Amino acid sequence: MSTTVITGIGELATNDPTRVEEGGLLGLVRDAAVVVEGSRVAWVGPAAEAPAADVQVDAGGRAVIPGFVDSHSHLVFAGDRSAEFEARMTGQPYTAGGIRTTVARTRAATDEQLTSHVARLVAEMRAQGTTSVEIKSGYGLTVHDEARGLAVARQFTQDTTFLGAHVVPVEFQGDTTNPEDYVDLVTGPMLAAAAPHARWIDVFCEDGAFDVDQARAILAAGSDSGLRGRLHANQLTYGGGVQLACELGLVAVDHCTFLSDLDVESLGDSGTIATLLPGVEFSTRQPYPDARRLLDAGVRVALASDCNPGSCFTSSMALCIALAVREMRMTPAEALHGATAMGAAALARDDVGVLAPGKVADLVLLDAPSYVHLAYRPGVPLVAGVWQAGRPVVPG
Ligand code: NIG
Ligand code: FE
Repeated sequence: MSTTVITGIGELATNDPTRVEEGGLLGLVRDAAVVVEGSRVAWVGPAAEAPAADVQVDAGGRAVIPGFVDSHSHLVFAGDRSAEFEARMTGQPYTAGGIRTTVARTRAATDEQLTSHVARLVAEMRAQGTTSVEIKSGYGLTVHDEARGLAVARQFTQDTTFLGAHVVPVEFQGDTTNPEDYVDLVTGPMLAAAAPHARWIDVFCEDGAFDVDQARAILAAGSDSGLRGRLHANQLTYGGGVQLACELGLVAVDHCTFLSDLDVESLGDSGTIATLLPGVEFSTRQPYPDARRLLDAGVRVALASDCNPGSCFTSSMALCIALAVREMRMTPAEALHGATAMGAAALARDDVGVLAPGKVADLVLLDAPSYVHLAYRPGVPLVAGVWQAGRPVVPG
């Protein structure tokens, strides 16, 4: 198997827990090198001690970080909602109902159109340093359209999430069919068709979408079909979603914008990761979640993009980091950790998000001397090279 050594790394963020004592939260190593063998990391340490390899790459004193792990995205969709965004910027509120606009466009798209659209967004993410991404369905909302959305997503990631419970579609809001019938469809035939293509099940637990009892029933049905649960909760209002996630011991609950003291305490006690999505608050003019309060209470915090056509159409994890630091009082180290190691934890993945021997060789070379530049230089494209599973996918 061919080996590559990336040497001359001025600052290497490893996220390796065994390096925390010397290297802080990010397990930083200065003047470092990484050896990659095939798809995995083979060696990490001081450049002066690096073993020889077939190929040598000189980072020239720049920083290297683990690839971003974006644990929350909705990439399977068609159509454009820039007009809705523009209306919002002139004072209209964001509501869950906008999802239905995308549902109509997504149902009308061909498999090829959906696939090439996801491919374009995944490539856009990769060029910005994202090497692992979770992708949800949720804009099909029929048995056929949810299953095909997941089949499309499955071509790009192992972390696919069935989100048939995104919103109740219009055809279930008439006089003869009601939202409970839709929940029966989601937990019955739709789940059966979706499960072979999905690893996770998610529910949008919010006013205007699904309530706590419905979410509980949907997550239970998913669990019976072998899908692990995650939840959209407390995005637009205070509600019982975060409590439900903690009670069920879900690996992650996402958004967490409106939290009571009890919610924060429960997150700390349960170990459920709070995945914060600051691009949403940026794009909807909502108040940001209080990351500092969560971290100070011992809650594990991840950052993700939530890339979707409605509430937040960014694929940039660097933007999320900059917002988390500037607007949510996370330190730059906490923010990078949240966008890498914690993103991996939020997907129950122990093979990515950390640069240590045996882990997947997903690395990003920054055109900067330190990871701090991700927040210090907002909006600047700093990704100079990306290796995904050991393969250079963006030239270094
Ligand atoms: O995560 N919250 C629910 N779903 C998306 C928004 C989807 C949309 O507006 O199309 C979100 O913000
Ligand atoms: Fe979302």
